[in-house]
Amino acid sequence: MNQEQILKLVLDHYENPRNYGEISDADVIEEGGNPGCGDILKIYLNVDSDNNVRDVSFSADGCMLSQAGASILLEKIKGMKVSELNDLSAEYVTELLGKKMVSTRPQCARLGFNTLKKAISKFSQKENIANSNN
Ligand code: FES
Repeated sequence: MNQEQILKLVLDHYENPRNYGEISDADVIEEGGNPGCGDILKIYLNVDSDNNVRDVSFSADGCMLSQAGASILLEKIKGMKVSELNDLSAEYVTELLGKKMVSTRPQCARLGFNTLKKAISKFSQKENIANSNN
């Protein structure tokens, strides 16, 4: 995608965020924020018995790029395996949003990703505890 297409995509996801809102029976809720700006983003995550992301959503009070970045990301990762998400690096955000967009405001671009990673690791910890109790 060229820069103009990426800008269009970001604007579209900001104005019409996908997977926005709470999941009332979420397995995990994780909150992330960026020090300095006070923006907050929450990720809600449900995982099925095969360890695939069954449902994921976000709610946010933040800047355009943090919200659009989360919307674009969650649309892509829905249905992925927890193990695949564990393996994803921040480079994935660059794949989705392009180098230029990410380098202008990396903290904003990665807020959704960083919060998702925390949610995934919280889920994995819960799973480990549950399995060790069985
Ligand atoms: Fe706070 Fe973008 S300005 S996340």
